[in-house]
Amino acid sequence: MTNHRIALIPGDGIGTEVVPAARRVLDAVGAEHGVSFTYRSFDWSCARHLREGAMMPEDGLDRLREHDAILLGAVGYPGVPDHVSLWGLLIPIRRGFRQYVNVRPIRVFEGVESPLRSAEPGSVDFVVVRENVEGEYSEIGGRLNRGFPEEMAVQEAVFTRAGVNRVLDYAFTLAARRAGRLTSATKSNGIVHTMPFWDELVAERAAHHPGVSWDQEHIDALAAKFVLDPRRFDVVVGSNLFGDILSDLAAAVAGSIGIAPAANLNPEGDFPSMFEPVHGSAPDIAGLGIANPLGAIWSAAMMLDHLGHPEAATRVTDAMAAVLAATSVRTPDLGGTASTEEFTTELLARL
Ligand code: NAD
Ligand code: IPM
Ligand code: MN
Repeated sequence: MTNHRIALIPGDGIGTEVVPAARRVLDAVGAEHGVSFTYRSFDWSCARHLREGAMMPEDGLDRLREHDAILLGAVGYPGVPDHVSLWGLLIPIRRGFRQYVNVRPIRVFEGVESPLRSAEPGSVDFVVVRENVEGEYSEIGGRLNRGFPEEMAVQEAVFTRAGVNRVLDYAFTLAARRAGRLTSATKSNGIVHTMPFWDELVAERAAHHPGVSWDQEHIDALAAKFVLDPRRFDVVVGSNLFGDILSDLAAAVAGSIGIAPAANLNPEGDFPSMFEPVHGSAPDIAGLGIANPLGAIWSAAMMLDHLGHPEAATRVTDAMAAVLAATSVRTPDLGGTASTEEFTTELLARL
């Protein structure tokens, strides 16, 4: 029996509803594959911030570090400004643990209706690889002259050669293992310093991955192509902000933002990696028990794969596909009437 220490951070809103669903699936599939989990649950959240003045304790990262992986629900809720909650919990974990790659797969499952006519089940299967620790998400800049007509805000984007190269290498290597095609999201026609640099580095790294054919698209045109012809993509690599936007768009193309998973990876394994659905805390449906747990469950499957159990991971994604293809049990975002719990129970029956 292999045991893994898992840190659970349900967080806010529907995060507290989908993480228990993912945990049920982990326990069930683990029992079948000789894998057990020792969980430690952390109540770090906006509720904690309102109570104690901080999203997590000062030694939060040290406490997480003792774990093999982190499973997170969602962070951010009305009552605490988003830039405070996110920079107080989610972003420090990504940065502190050097989780510089964010892998966000997209698939149109049989039985799930994409809003796009051209996206038949099985035809859309690609991965957004998002740079996860630098780029447009920086603390450099500031606000001046608050309340005056001259008020201004400046925010600097940071792109380093080492930081861009490592995520590009990850994306090219992933493309080589898949269909061998990579698309780089750029905006070098409008953003005149960082994006031409990004493009140069893509061309440089491409030379080290001769088996991968690649191209680049301006982010605006690329967004349109996600809608017009999502079948053409294999691996799409983008900066922190571009990757963020593209992954919600891609999730919608696949039928619901509630399905999409994310793996925040520290590929070297020096620190724990973190797995979380792409979606947020969904305050509009929080507490109703109707959140789609698939994003969290698929994220848990990515965690299993990362921990060295690819067969268990595939078993989970197969059960996801089976319940969608063979039943009409689904949550309201997919047109059904099932609760989070009912849907999870149905999925467990197909593991
Ligand atoms: P959101 O993803 O929470 O919600 C957007 C829409 O999608 C809502 O209508 C919601 O009901 C729906 N939705 C999302 N997940 C769903 C699911 N599993 N099942 C069914 N419907 C689902 O995005 P938002 O409204 O922009 O953000 C709400 C809060 O979450 C904010 O505080 C935001 O900063 C935070 N957020 C956190 C993360 C994260 O922790 N990684 C990601 C995105 C947003
Ligand atoms: C995500 C989220 C976060 C991000 C926010 C909440 C800071 O949108 O994980 O996609 O932009 O990284
Ligand atoms: Mn996002």
